[in-house]
Amino acid sequence: MKYVSTRGGSTPVSFQDAILTGLPSDGGLYIPQSLPTISKDQLKSWAGLSYTELAEKVLRLFIGEDELSNQELSDLLKGSFSASFHHPDIVPLKRVGHYNIMELWHGPTGAFKDLAFVPFARFIDHFLRKRNKKGIALIGTLGDTGCAAISAFKELENTKVICLYPKYSISMLQRLQMTTVKSPNILNISCETDTDNFDGIIVKLMRDREIASKYNLLWVNSPNIGRIVCHTVHHIYTYLQLCPSCDKSVTFYIPSGALADSASAYQTSLMGVPINVVSTVNENDFFFRLFNEKRLSRPLSVVKTYSCAMDTVFPHNVERVLYLLSGRDGQLINSLMKEYYTSGRADIPQSILDAASTGASRIRSVRVGQDEGFTVAKRIWEEEGYQLCPHTAVALAGQDKDREKSSDAPISVCLATATAAKFQEFLNHLSIPVPVHPCVEGLEGKEEVYREMKKGEDWEQLLMQAINDMHK
Ligand SMILES: Cc1ncc(COP(=O)(O)O)c(C=O)c1O
Repeated sequence: MKYVSTRGGSTPVSFQDAILTGLPSDGGLYIPQSLPTISKDQLKSWAGLSYTELAEKVLRLFIGEDELSNQELSDLLKGSFSASFHHPDIVPLKRVGHYNIMELWHGPTGAFKDLAFVPFARFIDHFLRKRNKKGIALIGTLGDTGCAAISAFKELENTKVICLYPKYSISMLQRLQMTTVKSPNILNISCETDTDNFDGIIVKLMRDREIASKYNLLWVNSPNIGRIVCHTVHHIYTYLQLCPSCDKSVTFYIPSGALADSASAYQTSLMGVPINVVSTVNENDFFFRLFNEKRLSRPLSVVKTYSCAMDTVFPHNVERVLYLLSGRDGQLINSLMKEYYTSGRADIPQSILDAASTGASRIRSVRVGQDEGFTVAKRIWEEEGYQLCPHTAVALAGQDKDREKSSDAPISVCLATATAAKFQEFLNHLSIPVPVHPCVEGLEGKEEVYREMKKGEDWEQLLMQAINDMHK
């Protein structure tokens, strides 16, 4: 299995090169050169597998045996989920009112990202060890990515982590999950901002070949294809829980920000798993507007919401979705993205929009306002006694809104991307009691360790300083 760029300008690389370099040199994102296909019979035969057994089957499709033997793959996955997840099923399915809810948040940091980071961090560390190298992962996070990455990498030997987060738009518990980890491998930096505007500096350093190779910088945010590949497992697992006979489509309502999980689900549907993807977004509605306005268009600013991990200005993985919708037309994506980055706008060809709404694999978007999220969270608490996180509330509200007008397959599921326990501010606002989750127990009052980057300071220089310090 090789990986190519969405902009068609780089030579195919192996899985390990794709995940260790993170970004291709032509500015695009890595994507499998050709998608593995899963026949209906094969899919059906996986229906009774445990999450770990399924992960072995699915991840094997994306990593050549010449890179990782069956034994190595099995050793890397063995015990990785069961040791750190707090539920025997890893991802249990719940029926709450008229909703199917797939709880993806029983991992060490209470968020769906654990599902990808647990195997992904092990892959990175394994390939670094084989190359006799050490790496530094640079992370920009709006919340859960940093927590999941720090938790997954903190005890591995070959990878250090520098994590930048926005001081003003991260929940207190998310911050504590990162800053209370004391490990020489981990450095947190609080940035005096309320958006992900430090991403530009990270991308600049990652794209500087000299710096990236001198310090062996790793890009583990969702543009890394390893994350997208690892998420495939929970999509297939979810599908099989809802339709083990594999004879119907299932519509997935996915709380979406950078569109990593949506891109992964759409890719999974193109592999032959009958999933319709509905990316539910909050007021930061870039992907929703793409379909309505038929163009990519840069928003004036980010809108701060309680579903803060979805408050993203530009959903990087939209490029992967467009590439797949275009029938893998790297040239088209290259000119589309260049136009967007230059002018802040780019018209989407009708063929791409048609591909999204016809055929066996479909993707669309629903926008949910903050009040709609509040209403559903309050109702589900009062009627069902079930606490939703603000991101999952967007998915449930999105399902109700979408179902009013769509004639889709009758089976649907909302992906629950985080435990409500991490979002006290949201629950307090709605007078809903905060549930307990092991990932946040005992955090309050613990000593925090972090550096700061203040407004007006030279953030690039400060980040370089941090990289140098971690490199020693
Ligand atoms: C709880 C939660 N829900 C949803 C999202 C959005 O996910 P994606 O970037 O895959 O669209 C995130 C991302 O950080 C998240 O942490």
